[in-house]
Amino acid sequence: MKILYVEDEQIIREVFSLQLEAKLDVKVFEAESGNKAVEFLKKNSDIDLVVSDYNMPDGDGDVVYKYLKESYKKIPFFLFSSVAPSDVNGLKTLLTDNSLNCHFIKPIEFEVVIKKIIEVLREVKGDVSDYCKIKIMHFLKFNTINCDVYLKLSEEKFVKVILKDALYSTEIVHKYTTKSIEYLYVLRDDYKNFYENFSRGLAFSLEHEKGALETGVDLQLTGLVTVYEMVHNLGISKEVVELVNGVYKSTLAVLNTNKSLSKILQNIMKNYNFIYEHSLLTSYVASAIAATMDWITESTVQKLMISSLLHDLSLEKISDKVDLIKTKNIDEFLADNQIDQKIKKTFFDHPQDTSTIIKNSYMLPPDVDWIILQHHEMPDGSGFPHKLDSHNLPPISCLFILAETFSRRVYNRVIDKKLIAEQVDYFSKRYNTGNFKKPLIGLTKCFNI
Ligand SMILES: [Fe+2]
Ligand SMILES: [Fe+2]
Repeated sequence: MKILYVEDEQIIREVFSLQLEAKLDVKVFEAESGNKAVEFLKKNSDIDLVVSDYNMPDGDGDVVYKYLKESYKKIPFFLFSSVAPSDVNGLKTLLTDNSLNCHFIKPIEFEVVIKKIIEVLREVKGDVSDYCKIKIMHFLKFNTINCDVYLKLSEEKFVKVILKDALYSTEIVHKYTTKSIEYLYVLRDDYKNFYENFSRGLAFSLEHEKGALETGVDLQLTGLVTVYEMVHNLGISKEVVELVNGVYKSTLAVLNTNKSLSKILQNIMKNYNFIYEHSLLTSYVASAIAATMDWITESTVQKLMISSLLHDLSLEKISDKVDLIKTKNIDEFLADNQIDQKIKKTFFDHPQDTSTIIKNSYMLPPDVDWIILQHHEMPDGSGFPHKLDSHNLPPISCLFILAETFSRRVYNRVIDKKLIAEQVDYFSKRYNTGNFKKPLIGLTKCFNI
């Protein structure tokens, strides 16, 4: 973003330009008089903002403004002066010509000007930042990155911390995490390339982990975070599908090598992020129930697991407005008067919204969209969005609903025999009807009860 700063006193000009460039992600061009500024503007049409002093020996500030008006250049104009614009002929309409124009009375308060500049740049460019944030934990998985990586120092200032393709030590990343830094940044132009490369590396690691519990679960959670971020920013792509497949195959490998489902589930719950951990829990429980049933084919297991990993995808859009762990108990969440109605509406819409995203992608297996659409239906028909009951819901949806509800109910609790018995009792009283009956038997079997 480019700013032209017009000021006749060299020291003031240099200090102000230096401060602007230090504070904001901008390039400042300087002109020492009104006439020099006009010459510059004639040759440079890509200036986003002009900031000008008024009294100068070779053409005052009004000369610059007159030129902008006559050439129909809609560039915002900031005037620094000790006289009001209404007292100067060429500037009488300054504040009404363009709502982004400003007048600052000398002496200028630098911070106030900076704030105003950010507002203008946002309006003109849509976004001040050329950077995209990436969760810092991603950088712990590798030793080279295919683009430069930056640390954010302030809203406007970024500093390069990892060089493109250079070997880096994960210690540097650890150092930032201990300072509670959650994100590093890459340039917007590098973002797609970064994620494609990153997800390929992750898919490779998932494929070669071969069922080790802790590293397997850790990679699966990273995979899920990445899937959510990629879908959110770039939509469902070939790389997203590969990564989802990588996570579900790795989940199966962990299930095959670790016989205690309780132990696996306990390892997932780190209280780092409810949605990712809940989705992964659901995929383990759904697949464990499926393994106890005779009608389940490999492709059905695949559909169940992909549905598990993606079913709450569109809840991401309210993740910065409400702590999603509150959706663990839906009745309490909906009854909570502190939670805005718009947030509740987004929650009600999320089965439909997520289902639509999946359906429109054409890249995921069939049926995943309607399994997701039905995941908040209830056996007695009191669920949403379509109030289907245990006789209208297909068996695969009943299995999925059971796994999803169970995963919410046990989240962040110690999974021991007492808890399982308590849950089996709960589900037996409410879910022992229609197409829920068989998966309910499966649920008890997979915990060896
Ligand atoms: Fe869910
Ligand atoms: Fe949900």
